[in-house]
Amino acid sequence: MAIKKVGIIGGGLMGSGIAQTCAQSGYEVIMREVNQELLDRGLARIHGAWELLQGKGKITAAQAEEYRGQIRGTLELADFADCDLVIEAIIENLDLKRPVFKELDALLRPEVVIVSNTSSLPIIEMAAATQRPDRVAGLHFFNPAPVMKLVEIVRTISTSDMTVETLRAFAESLGKTPIIAKDTGGFVVNFLLIPYLLAAIRMYENGLATKEDIDTGMKLGCGYPMGPFQLLDYVGLDTTLWAAEAIYKDYPDPAYAPPTLLRRMVAAGHNGMKAGKGFYDYAEKR
Ligand code: 3HC
Repeated sequence: MAIKKVGIIGGGLMGSGIAQTCAQSGYEVIMREVNQELLDRGLARIHGAWELLQGKGKITAAQAEEYRGQIRGTLELADFADCDLVIEAIIENLDLKRPVFKELDALLRPEVVIVSNTSSLPIIEMAAATQRPDRVAGLHFFNPAPVMKLVEIVRTISTSDMTVETLRAFAESLGKTPIIAKDTGGFVVNFLLIPYLLAAIRMYENGLATKEDIDTGMKLGCGYPMGPFQLLDYVGLDTTLWAAEAIYKDYPDPAYAPPTLLRRMVAAGHNGMKAGKGFYDYAEKR
């Protein structure tokens, strides 16, 4: 089945980045949020990115106009009825994700594939809320979604070969390189990335080095584009905590146990760049 219209549930950092990526690749995109304010914020983020790219001369005014025409916001799930693929990118909470999968299953044509952009929750739990577990998988993008080249296709014990091939072709059509991961905590990338980020927090918590020096160490010593604290702020401390907790559930190894400082910072709302404060302060840049 040819994919023409893509539905994105959630217009947050990841949802809007995925919507932007799909629109830029010629797909008709519909993005849903739960209220007008969040929807406006998500659409503004996408339009802002295109303005920036136009300002840099990366895209023409005509292209920006064409992209804007490819994307529509809605508050109604019913508007997704004619979608050919739906990507869920809401908050990392299974109790909220499962009902979305159930509703989508009742609404969409039976052949349509539904995927989750979750960074570490079990996809099979979402698949089990539907009557089409063979057409449910994970499609995990990386932040910033329009820039990062990787997409993880997460295959559950019920996902069919045809679904995997549909998603492989779709990811490639977005200019991404797909890899296949099993439906286990952290998939491939977060299974390796999360313990690294948590170890950096423990080093800092234990006073082994300053956060600035740890960041400089990993950037200049290993060639990483960002140090661990810059990346934690960029990804979101809340997102990191949820991912760590989800992986720890599957692998109760201390390497995945969230450090106290991370829990306290999330409780305080110091969730990183998006909150104006994380390990670093972004207040004046907002
Ligand atoms: N749309 C399109 N292009 C964009 C864009 C957007 N929204 N945002 C940035 N870009 C482009 C810029 O135009 C620029 O292109 P150019 O090099 O051709 O001029 C390029 O991306 C780089 O952007 P900037 O110049 O603004 O900034 P930097 O060079 O400092 O790069 C970065 C920023 C790409 C974020 C880089 O620092 C980086 O790669 N950081 C690491 C990010 C990372 O590790 N992400 C994965 C996180 S883990 C994750 O997401 C998983 C989750 O489950 C936790």
